[in-house]
Amino acid sequence: MRLLVFIFFVTTASAWPENCRGIAFNHRFYEPETIKEGLKNIQKLILNRNDNTLYFIFDNLAVVPNKALGYINLDTKATGIVTIRNASSVAIDQMNNVVYAGGPDGLYIVNNKKVPERLPVFHNINDMFFKDILYFTNNRRETFKVIDNVVFRLRELQGVEVDKLILDDDNNILFTVDRRLFRIRLNTRAVNTHERYNVDAISVDAYFKPYIATTNGVYVYNKYKYALDKVSDIKDLSALTFNKMDEAIYGVVDVIIKLNLSREDSFNVLIFGFDSTARNGFIRRMPKSWKVLTEELGATVMEG
Ligand SMILES: *[C@@H]1O[C@H](CO)[C@@H](O)[C@H](O)[C@H]1NC(C)=O
Ligand SMILES: *[C@@H]1O[C@H](CO)[C@@H](O)[C@H](O)[C@H]1NC(C)=O
Repeated sequence: MRLLVFIFFVTTASAWPENCRGIAFNHRFYEPETIKEGLKNIQKLILNRNDNTLYFIFDNLAVVPNKALGYINLDTKATGIVTIRNASSVAIDQMNNVVYAGGPDGLYIVNNKKVPERLPVFHNINDMFFKDILYFTNNRRETFKVIDNVVFRLRELQGVEVDKLILDDDNNILFTVDRRLFRIRLNTRAVNTHERYNVDAISVDAYFKPYIATTNGVYVYNKYKYALDKVSDIKDLSALTFNKMDEAIYGVVDVIIKLNLSREDSFNVLIFGFDSTARNGFIRRMPKSWKVLTEELGATVMEG
């Protein structure tokens, strides 16, 4: 009887026109919400998950051509611009709630009044990424790390040109040069290429799962297969980030879009039950499965 009910439901669902189900991303369906329109050349997006403020780099067409760092609070919709000359990048230490911004004059911290405070790092910064420490590339495509305001060349990428970089949940650095994707493991020097993709943006979600937005759709780097898995058909994203609920926020043409998990999709439930094993025993003996279930799939553990 239950099976019949299920089949009936699936038949009904598949009879809906595809666009009623919204945009597919990572096997779920979302409704696009416009966050902000009329931004020229959106180049970087990152959400401060502590206060739900979205930061973005765009072309501010004032008197002189000038790149700028803008922000919008997704709860209050308050917007503004952080005054950094030709700001090129922004990165966030989510754990300590620190916003870093960079440009041709060097590195700044954006304080909670959205005022930039200079740090003693005077490089012409092109791109930045934060994972445990701050990483950046400069206008000569060299890669550095910053520890206690001291700058070091990143040994792994010495002699390798880099435009943009991210670090994933498995000690890989993924980086782009002229829109081509490459990968290197921390503490090694062998660069792997994923050359057949034309990359628009690279990003990570809240768990440092790496996403690659290409001219052919969005992919996730699969660390078990060393390959890219396609997770969405959405194309030509100029920037990409994620909120705590793993909903994507992206720039496309001159609009910032947020994907809202669609209500039609919200009854997608999967239950794993394990018999004859204690939870702690499972965590001890199958740490990788535990990690995938809880971190990558966001499973809710029924304790007690
Ligand atoms: C998306 O979600 C927000 C709040 O969660 C809501 O205010 C907005 O109306 C939603 N937009 C769409 C298009 O579903
Ligand atoms: C920003 O950079 C562009 C391109 O390098 C340059 O033409 C422009 O003058 C710069 N703007 C400011 C305010 O320095």
